[in-house]
Amino acid sequence: MKIAVIGVTGLVGNIMIKVLEEQKINISKFIPVASEKSLGKSIYFNNQTYKIKSIEYAISEKPDIAIFSAGSKVSKNYAPLFAASGTFVIDNSSAWRMDKNIPLIVPEINADILTRKDKIIANPNCSTIQMVMVLYPLHKKYKIKRLVISTYQSVTGTGVKAIKQLENERKGLEGEMAYPYPIDKNVIPQGGDFLDNGYTSEEMKLVDETRKILSDNRLRITSTVVRVPVTGGHSEAVNIEFKNDFAVDNVRKILSETKGIILQDDVENLIYPMPRFSEGRDEVFVGRIRKDISNPRSLDMWIVSDNLRKGAATNAVQIVKYLIDNII
Ligand SMILES: NC(=O)c1ccc[n+]([C@@H]2O[C@H](COP(=O)([O-])OP(=O)(O)OC[C@H]3O[C@@H](n4cnc5c(N)ncnc54)[C@H](OP(=O)(O)O)[C@@H]3O)[C@@H](O)[C@H]2O)c1
Repeated sequence: MKIAVIGVTGLVGNIMIKVLEEQKINISKFIPVASEKSLGKSIYFNNQTYKIKSIEYAISEKPDIAIFSAGSKVSKNYAPLFAASGTFVIDNSSAWRMDKNIPLIVPEINADILTRKDKIIANPNCSTIQMVMVLYPLHKKYKIKRLVISTYQSVTGTGVKAIKQLENERKGLEGEMAYPYPIDKNVIPQGGDFLDNGYTSEEMKLVDETRKILSDNRLRITSTVVRVPVTGGHSEAVNIEFKNDFAVDNVRKILSETKGIILQDDVENLIYPMPRFSEGRDEVFVGRIRKDISNPRSLDMWIVSDNLRKGAATNAVQIVKYLIDNII
């Protein structure tokens, strides 16, 4: 496999190459790509040093797979050029996710819809991936009617600039701001840009992408996205209303038997998921599962995962594996 990683010097790019190594993807030629400012710099991958290349060079090499984590603009401009020469593109940005001709894939849920013709494949938003991992087995069993979501999102979700802002603030240094306000000792109720309906772009991603992945446009969903001064992963408080009756013990059983999910739900022993302990892990952690006292058909839960892993790199590398095993 000839594989190009676009945005290799970024937060997601860094984890991407780690996960490619860990998953022992058989790579005959590796092409690391970043912006002009990084050209010629070196990166280390699979015990070898590689020089960073331009995106044009990567296109000319016609790789089998190109994994994009370099922002929407780069994906919009360049993914079609790779696709035109036969490369499968796996895109981490939001550029293609809601395009009706582009599959939006969480391998545990819907990789089976992929065909040879799908040259551009979208990786969902990080907060969507961890949530649908938990929702999918419950939706199959009890049919979800409505979701009320509140997120507590890590600064790692906003890239290297945001981590730098948090670090600078903790050291009392001035520097570039990734957010409109200080993030240390603060929570910011804004993820992305504000839209005409009063929601933010990150909030609407949770609504639209969840419906697309679960193939159910009638799902009623509302969400509030909040940025918190945390680096380990995203946390989400989710209230789920089902169409059918359920028992909390069965919900726990279903989740404990689902691949990729770890149930941490033992409040007597103070066991519940936390972002500090999800960092570096590929799984989605779920706990605080309880019946909603205000509605017999609803329950509440707390979902945590490392947004750079299952929320980005791990999911993308799982798609790579699926393509290699089933399509290429
Ligand atoms: N962070 C997350 O949790 C997360 C999760 C899911 C998806 N994503 C998406 O993944 C993408 C990257 O996020 P990130 O957090 O890794 O951002 P980041 O840390 O800011 O990294 C951006 C990367 O893109 C590269 N880049 C920028 N302009 C480029 C260009 N014109 N050509 C080639 N490479 C270019 C940068 O290279 P230089 O170092 O040379 O500037 C860097 O490698 C975004 O689309 C984001 O929405 C992020």
